[in-house]
Amino acid sequence: MLIDGHGRTVNYLRVSVTERCNFRCQYCMPEKPFSWVPQENLLSFEDLFKFIKLAIDEGVTKIRLTGGEPLLRQDLDRFVAMIHDYKPDIDLALTTNGYLLPETAERLANAGLKRINISLDSLKPAVSAQIAQKNVLGKVLEGIEKARAVGLEIKINMVPLKGINDGEILDLLEYARERGIRIRFIEYMENSHAGEIQGLLGKEILEEIKKRYTIRKLGRSGASPSFNYEIEENGYIFGLIDPHKHDFCESCNRIRLTAEGHLIPCLYFDEAQSIAEAVRGGDIDAAAEILAQVLRDKPKENRWSETDNEGSNRAFYETGG
Ligand code: GTP
Ligand code: 5AD
Ligand code: SF4
Repeated sequence: MLIDGHGRTVNYLRVSVTERCNFRCQYCMPEKPFSWVPQENLLSFEDLFKFIKLAIDEGVTKIRLTGGEPLLRQDLDRFVAMIHDYKPDIDLALTTNGYLLPETAERLANAGLKRINISLDSLKPAVSAQIAQKNVLGKVLEGIEKARAVGLEIKINMVPLKGINDGEILDLLEYARERGIRIRFIEYMENSHAGEIQGLLGKEILEEIKKRYTIRKLGRSGASPSFNYEIEENGYIFGLIDPHKHDFCESCNRIRLTAEGHLIPCLYFDEAQSIAEAVRGGDIDAAAEILAQVLRDKPKENRWSETDNEGSNRAFYETGG
C-alpha cells in the first residue's frame, strides 16, 4: 500500500500522456504554448508502463489517462490494453475533450477502457467555439453518443464561466439527465496560463439549479473531489467540484505523472521529481525510491490559498487537471 507523509493512502494515479491539445480552451490553454516538450523527451508507452506496473504492484487501483488531449497520442488503445492486460480489474479511465471519440471509442472499449469523462461546456455551437476557440460541438456530441453506444461509462465535466456559458447550467444538466449520464460542474481554477475569465463559485452554480429544482446534499464518494447532490423531483444525481473551499485535500488519494516523466504530488504544488532516467534505464528500484520520496513530500494541502487564489504556475494541460 502507498501511504504518504500525512498518513493518506494513495491509490489513484493520473497519467498525462501528452500536453498537446487540439482545443484552445480559455480556462486551460488559450494560446499555443511558446514551445512543446520536444518529442524525444516524451516517455514511450513502454517506459510509462514500467512505472505504472510499479505503481499497481505497490497498491494503485485506479488509473486515469489525461492530457492535454490524450487521444492525440497515437495508438492510445495500445497503451490502454497494456494496462488492462496487466491488471484487468483496475479502474481504468480517460478524461478527454471528446473530439476524437467518434473514431476511437470502439477501439478504446475493446482494449479494456471502462470509464470516460468528457468535457462539455455548452450545447450552443457558437459558445462552444468561443470557449474552445474552434468549432467543436458537433464532433463532441457525436463522440459522446459513440462512447455510449460502445458501453463506456460516461461522466460530463462542465466549467461554468461568467457571461459565457453560465446560462446553460440547467440545459447541460437536462442533457446529461436525459441520457443517464452523471454531470459534474467544476469551479474554474485560476492558473497563470488561462485567459481573462471568471468562473462561477459552487454556491452560484447551485443557485442556478435551485431555480428549477429542490436539491439535497449527498456527500463525497470516497476521496473524489466531487460532492454529490440529488434532485428531489426526479432522483437525478449530479456533482460539484468546488476546490475554492479547500476541503478535499485531507482525503487526497492521488499523484500525477506527466508525459515526460515528472511525478507530481499535488496539482497546486510546483515541486516534482523525474522518473524518466530511472525507467529509461530499467532501474525500477530507483523509480520506487523516487516514488517513496514524492509520497513523503506530498503536501498536506495545496498551495493555492498561499497565492491569493492566483493558482498554479504549472499549466493544467501539463498536469492533466
Ligand atoms: P472520477 O474518477 O470520475 O471521479 O474522475 P476525476 O474527477 O478524478 O477526474 P477528472 O479528470 O474528470 O477531473 C475532474 C476535475 O477535477 C478536473 O477539473 C480536475 O482538474 C479536478 N481535479 C482532479 N483532481 C484534483 C485535485 O487533486 N485537486 C483539485 N483542485 N482538482 C482536482
Ligand atoms: N479550471 C477548472 N477545470 C479545468 N479543466 C481544465 N482546466 C481547468 C480549470 N482551469 C477541466 C476540463 C476537463 C478536466 C480534466 O479539467 O474541463 O474536464
Ligand atoms: Fe485541451 Fe482539455 Fe485544456 Fe481544453 S481543457 S485546452 S480540451 S487540455
